[in-house]
Amino acid sequence: MLNLKKNTSFINGQWLAGQANTYPVFNPANAQEVSQVLKCGAEETEHAIVAADHALETWKKTLAAERTQVLKRWGELMLEYRQQLAEILVEEQGKPLAEALGEVVYAASFFEWFAEEAKRNYGDIIPTFKAQTKIMVTKEPVGVVAAITPWNFPLAMVTRKVAPALAAGCTMILKPSEETPLSAFALAVLAEQAGVPAGVFNVVSGNAQEIGATLQHSEKVKKISFTGSTVTGKLLMRQAADTLKKTSFELGGNAPFIVFEDADLEAAVEGAMASKYRNTGQTCVCVNRFYIHEKVYESFVELLTAEVQKLKVGHGFVEGVTQGPLINQAAMAKVQRHIDDALAKGGSIVTGGKAHQLGGLFYEPTIIKHANDKMLVAHEETFGPVAACFSFASDQEAIALANNTQYGLSAYFYTKDLKRTWWVADQLQVGMVGINEGIISTAVAPFGGVKESGFGREGSKYGLDEYQNIKYILLGGLA
Ligand code: SIN
Repeated sequence: MLNLKKNTSFINGQWLAGQANTYPVFNPANAQEVSQVLKCGAEETEHAIVAADHALETWKKTLAAERTQVLKRWGELMLEYRQQLAEILVEEQGKPLAEALGEVVYAASFFEWFAEEAKRNYGDIIPTFKAQTKIMVTKEPVGVVAAITPWNFPLAMVTRKVAPALAAGCTMILKPSEETPLSAFALAVLAEQAGVPAGVFNVVSGNAQEIGATLQHSEKVKKISFTGSTVTGKLLMRQAADTLKKTSFELGGNAPFIVFEDADLEAAVEGAMASKYRNTGQTCVCVNRFYIHEKVYESFVELLTAEVQKLKVGHGFVEGVTQGPLINQAAMAKVQRHIDDALAKGGSIVTGGKAHQLGGLFYEPTIIKHANDKMLVAHEETFGPVAACFSFASDQEAIALANNTQYGLSAYFYTKDLKRTWWVADQLQVGMVGINEGIISTAVAPFGGVKESGFGREGSKYGLDEYQNIKYILLGGLA
């Protein structure tokens, strides 16, 4: 049985030694220190870049079938170590154990998917424009990839980047969130065990600015894949311009959830609960704004309230808990600011609305009624357990309200009307739409946004493209 608990970065197949410079990782549920982690900076990042660049020469030449084997094994190991990985998630991220176990399975599914995709990474033969020639298109790995991942899904946001990158023949330096590096270290333990060669997957954690800047300025790093805030995404994009790195960004969301008057309200509430309160509302694709037709507004809010009041807030290891803590004080302050602002602008609290009696970073699952477009909740991602309920009178109004945001990640709507279904799906300015469904995330479908929610797609048959360059070859002198 492997021990997945490591507290140091993993570079070129080695766990870095040294205790001199460390930083603490806290459990957000009780503010207790989970671990002291070695604090890496520019020097270690440079070392990781050199290692990844060196490893690339061999890794990119491996047969797809060899990469498939390694990735498949890595995913299988995740499932074998599901309990240990989930416990690490609960400790450093705070999510309830059942949700953590679900994240492990979701995260492992990216290995299974891209292990298979590696074998089907076909090129093209194109009808030629000139006699005695052939046109071929091949795909090549972009090279060394830098991945920067967030704290809300410390495993899944890593595997959805590393699986396609390695499947394509790239090598990687991962900078996980400083708040949740332990899950990334655990993945590295399993990578070694799965047979990922030294230097192919490196994890560097510590001084975010130094690590980020070193990755961004390096000419050896050819691609940056980032999941996080739109503000940081814009900064990274500016920095990436200096070396013209290929980029993919999965940024903030402000998901609308539209309940039309013909919706199955019980199904809509089920979808609403799954989407809104997943990970205590700390998910980029979480609903941020509920738009409910005025004819069903009261009934929907009533049904939703009954479900929200059943949620159990607490420590992720406590039986039956469905809502963990928020990640930090800044998150608590943002949730409170959005609620205070909504109240000042005509909103009213149906349930919740304040810090939970458990104290610390726990917040009551909240519903706000009479939300309007002047409120912060209409325009900013709350990233917390707050359901803001707006009303609308016509389909056109619902679409105008839903699209009135700089973001365009996901949207959801509930209706039984087929004609409306297609019209609304077409009108929504987002990368992903859930129709009569509240959970859309899966390794088999393309995940990503439009507008200021970013670009690039993760998962699905499109996911490999982000880590490849296309090469056109014209072969002449043929008979
Ligand atoms: C995210 O919050 O960025 C992604 C969550 C998911 O994959 O569903």
